[in-house]
Amino acid sequence: MYNMVEINFIINGSKMTKRIKPSTLLVDFIRDDLKLKGTKVGCMEGECGACTIIIDGTAINSCMYLAININGKNVTTIEGLGTVEKPLDLVQEKMIAHGAIQCGFCTSGVVMTTKAFSEKCKNEDKIPTRDEVKKSLEGHLCRCTGYIKIIDAAEAVYKKQ
Ligand code: FES
Ligand code: FES
Repeated sequence: MYNMVEINFIINGSKMTKRIKPSTLLVDFIRDDLKLKGTKVGCMEGECGACTIIIDGTAINSCMYLAININGKNVTTIEGLGTVEKPLDLVQEKMIAHGAIQCGFCTSGVVMTTKAFSEKCKNEDKIPTRDEVKKSLEGHLCRCTGYIKIIDAAEAVYKKQ
């Protein structure tokens, strides 16, 4: 029998307290406990990027992270950006405008990585080179698009912001 532990965190702008098993993976916590299904499960080995979310401004693979480690942190999932109920984020707009989405399985992870990197670049007042954009996305696998449209969309974000 596990001892349950209490964690306090902010998720998509809302404060929350939950009791969890210490061994709970963050991706399972997000999808199964919080019912935020926009974060996808792919490899479960930190290789595909489908499960990417943002913690305190940094994009991480939530399949490689225990939920207990979000205690005291600020977590953003794809539902914290634009949804059908609220305006799209610039990253989402550019992904659509550049036709960078096909089946969509990789998309929320790509968007979260691009969002985190775009905030970093904005804070540093920098527009990354195309090579830097490619490097920022190298942790993401996409079986559909051939990547060019994803890179084009990300570049358009950095040029617009
Ligand atoms: S499911 Fe987490 S990196 Fe693939
Ligand atoms: S759009 Fe299908 S995996 Fe990327």
